[in-house]
Amino acid sequence: MPKRLIAGNWKMNGLKAAVSEAETVAKSLSEQSADCDVLICPPATLIAVFEEKLTGTAVQYGGQDCHTNESGAHTGDISAEMLADLGCAFGIVGHSERRTDHGETNDEVKAKAYALTRANVLPIICIGETQSERESGNTLKVLTEQVENSVPTDLDGTKMVVAYEPVWAIGTGLVPELSDIEEAHNHIRATLTNMGIANADEIRLLYGGSVKPGNAGEILTVSNVNGALVGGASLKAADFLGIIRA
Ligand code: G3P
Repeated sequence: MPKRLIAGNWKMNGLKAAVSEAETVAKSLSEQSADCDVLICPPATLIAVFEEKLTGTAVQYGGQDCHTNESGAHTGDISAEMLADLGCAFGIVGHSERRTDHGETNDEVKAKAYALTRANVLPIICIGETQSERESGNTLKVLTEQVENSVPTDLDGTKMVVAYEPVWAIGTGLVPELSDIEEAHNHIRATLTNMGIANADEIRLLYGGSVKPGNAGEILTVSNVNGALVGGASLKAADFLGIIRA
């Protein structure tokens, strides 16, 4: 079983002072280590501060998005090379908020995953069904389509992470039944395996969507759940540590 990864996605939250929350997490892990990898993806404005304050600690850090090109005339965008230059270990791509707010397609998400890989940054590729897709009974079909079209087939499974985030569970306090999480994760694993990806059984599959200290323990025992991608509850050290310790 791959080593668990507990990843925080701060989204568009956090001014410079918020870095102290990440430092508190790092301090706690230096006093009592955790049997998982720990990652925080702050807004891009804080990555350089994370590099300064967190390099050498047990808290890894990463980006929330990247451009597909290495450099060029793309105002406001950030390349995978820039993330790598600041010591980012991981980069999130295809988060549902980017798919919705910026119209990102599966093809673009896949191209971003390749861009990160070229820069030696591990992609965390996000997928997940909307509420209406779930209600119409299309969850597994949607997941198949997203996995087959967003995940590069020629990358080794140890070099990527896939995050299942049901869109309706993000920031709502709603969480699928554990049996639904299990069904989705088993299906994603089977799809990745059928795609012929090398070491598909080593791909870390994260669950994301209203993960809190109170529900993380049970979610993390579900088969094929190899970690969590945490939004709101990653912003405060106490909550995030509660999930890490779970
Ligand atoms: O990427 C993490 C995320 O979308 C889940 O957010 O706030 O429901 O934990 P949240």
